[in-house]
Amino acid sequence: MTDLRSGIQEAAAAIRRRTGLVPEIALILGSGLGALADEIAAEAALPYEAIPHFPRGSVEGHAGRLILGALEGKRVVAMQGRVHLYEGYTAVQVTLPVRVMRALGAGTLVASNAAGGINPQFRAGDLMLLTDHINFTGTNPLIGPHDPALGPRFPDMSRLYDAALGGLARRIAQEEGMTLRSGVYIAVAGPSYETPAEIEMFRRWGADAVGMSTVPEVIVARQMGMRVLAVSAITNVIGGIRAEPLTHEGVIAAAKELEPRFIRLVRRVVREMSLSG
Ligand code: HPA
Repeated sequence: MTDLRSGIQEAAAAIRRRTGLVPEIALILGSGLGALADEIAAEAALPYEAIPHFPRGSVEGHAGRLILGALEGKRVVAMQGRVHLYEGYTAVQVTLPVRVMRALGAGTLVASNAAGGINPQFRAGDLMLLTDHINFTGTNPLIGPHDPALGPRFPDMSRLYDAALGGLARRIAQEEGMTLRSGVYIAVAGPSYETPAEIEMFRRWGADAVGMSTVPEVIVARQMGMRVLAVSAITNVIGGIRAEPLTHEGVIAAAKELEPRFIRLVRRVVREMSLSG
């Protein structure tokens, strides 16, 4: 067995010692979007440092806890906070929690993040459904020794984001009277924000939003055959020269402001999601 697989199994075993709950849905709650975890009827809440091999977050606004319980009639496992490449973790380390949530039983991943809007129609405070992504992080979580038990060596990435789940999110947004944008997310390693020249390049490439997460986790989830839905909280719009400098505090505050809408959308998606496919 590979080191990676034994790490996954040790982490999953430590979690199973705390709860027998077998999750159906995995949630990753991004920057400023962690409050949904507090609405889970929790059977167990484990700080990341209590789980062997789990990377620990170091960034403010990213509390690191894994919560297992019930939400809207479904069994869920939620990451309240995630780690990022810019913290110095490898892409393999960043994505270990997704592999563990899959090992626990989750077949569907709902991921979220804070992102900068590149599409000129986007406004700060918008929610965006990911329809595709560009991996511009400079790395890939599948680099390294291959373990066929975890999925194919060369997984297809042509249909990353599940059309049925995306359609459900769009219908719910419409019924709730919420604007839900959709578009292509480009991931960078960070932690510096983008230059105007980089944003202009990303726009020409077809990117609608930019952020520092999600893509490694989604690659791994798809390698393992999970269905994926992902939503960006557009916390700021970029391009050209800003009047005010972009700050992490500003990004977190903007995410917090739209968080109630994000929670309303995701709760209903979880409730109405069919797990058979
Ligand atoms: N760039 C990268 N990541 C981000 C941004 C941004 O403008 N906003 C929130 N996360």
